[in-house]
Amino acid sequence: MKSDSGFSKLSKRKKLRWVVENFFRNPEEVMRELTGFWHHSEEKQKIFDEFSENTLTNFYLPFGIAPNFVINGTTYCVPMVIEESSVVAAASAGAKFWMDRGGFKATVTDVTKVGQVHFLWHGKKSKLESVFPDLRSRLLEEAKHITANMDKRGGGILQVELVDKKEIESGYYQLDCTFNTCDAMGANFINSVLEQFAKTLKGFVATHAIFDDSEREVTIVMAILSNYTPECLVKAWAECPIEALGKVVEDDPETFAKKFELAVRIAHHDIARATTHNKGIFNGIDAVVMATGNDFRAVEGCGHTFAARSGQYRSLTSASIEDGMFRFSIEFPIAVGTVGGLTNLHPLAKRSLELLGNPNAKELMQIIVCVGLAQNFAAVKSLVTTGIQFGHMKMHLMNILIHMNATKEEIQLAVEHFNEKTISFTAVREFLDALRAENLIQNTKSA
Ligand code: MEV
Repeated sequence: MKSDSGFSKLSKRKKLRWVVENFFRNPEEVMRELTGFWHHSEEKQKIFDEFSENTLTNFYLPFGIAPNFVINGTTYCVPMVIEESSVVAAASAGAKFWMDRGGFKATVTDVTKVGQVHFLWHGKKSKLESVFPDLRSRLLEEAKHITANMDKRGGGILQVELVDKKEIESGYYQLDCTFNTCDAMGANFINSVLEQFAKTLKGFVATHAIFDDSEREVTIVMAILSNYTPECLVKAWAECPIEALGKVVEDDPETFAKKFELAVRIAHHDIARATTHNKGIFNGIDAVVMATGNDFRAVEGCGHTFAARSGQYRSLTSASIEDGMFRFSIEFPIAVGTVGGLTNLHPLAKRSLELLGNPNAKELMQIIVCVGLAQNFAAVKSLVTTGIQFGHMKMHLMNILIHMNATKEEIQLAVEHFNEKTISFTAVREFLDALRAENLIQNTKSA
């Protein structure tokens, strides 16, 4: 039996039992392994269980830090949750490089969030337009029970506009709305308001005297926030005189700066490169978004749409060489919060925010985007000098050696040996085999 209609109602242990017995060859061993990842504190485990549904166990990811991030003159130690080796090391290297050259600067233009009620209505447009001010007042009035708290915190609904979208579909309109959700990401707030707006809209059109009977029907298609928040824009940059770049691996500062600028320009024009280039930026961005309990899918969605805003998918960063200065910058729209949602519930998200000095949403936006910039700097720096595999494989070498139970001495010898050589699983195995064979011969001789 591989399906169970009442599954969601079972206890966690019963769900796990059902899964291991139906999908694994060695149920007892898998049961032990998966329960082994439960938190030893029942109270804490309950917190994790309740984030989602049908939870069986916890899926661990490393929680690391990248120190030395100087942003607008403040030094941060940035928490990062990511499974990919070299990402934290690269972010740290990027941060350290710019720390010695004045650090990163960042500004936030706005924190305005967006959402729409999408609806179909086949009445006379001029009538709806003429009563729209009344409708807007009614919308705000009837959403007061949802907005009262946010209003007190200085946020709330900013604007509600009627947008004609009939070029897409006959009778299609939007209530296009903007919000200030203060330090919260605000998804629940916005969606609750929009759903209330949908109800009010239907009631208003059904009863207002201006409409005749043929115009009373509104079909709500959907009421939902948009994750595209181009106004939540962070601009961040790092710059220094070209000679302050110093010698970078084999390259003099000018050669390096020119290669770097070209690599970024290639990512501006070439979508194949732009995708990987931006993926590298998201390595840093997502890791901090995760560590602070924010929604990385929303951040990714928004960032990629923004990257394609010209009609072509392009690099999110830019590099320039002007008047002897090297400048590396990013524009990135990001909607994240420091209150509400998982930021308050996940014990490690709370600690991440504490580690960052409990920033407000604007500060967190700046920190995250600077990490993306540092990450991209480190990646492109490696790409145009040593190549990316150099750093990657050094990390990989350690993983392989640990996997092969190498001793401290063997690790030291292997690191020296592979300094200039290509690292692969086979090459490391052969090196260790040869080393161990040699030691065996020597031990036998001396015995
Ligand atoms: C690997 O996760 C990310 C990079 O490929 C990014 C890039 O190519 O710029 C190194």
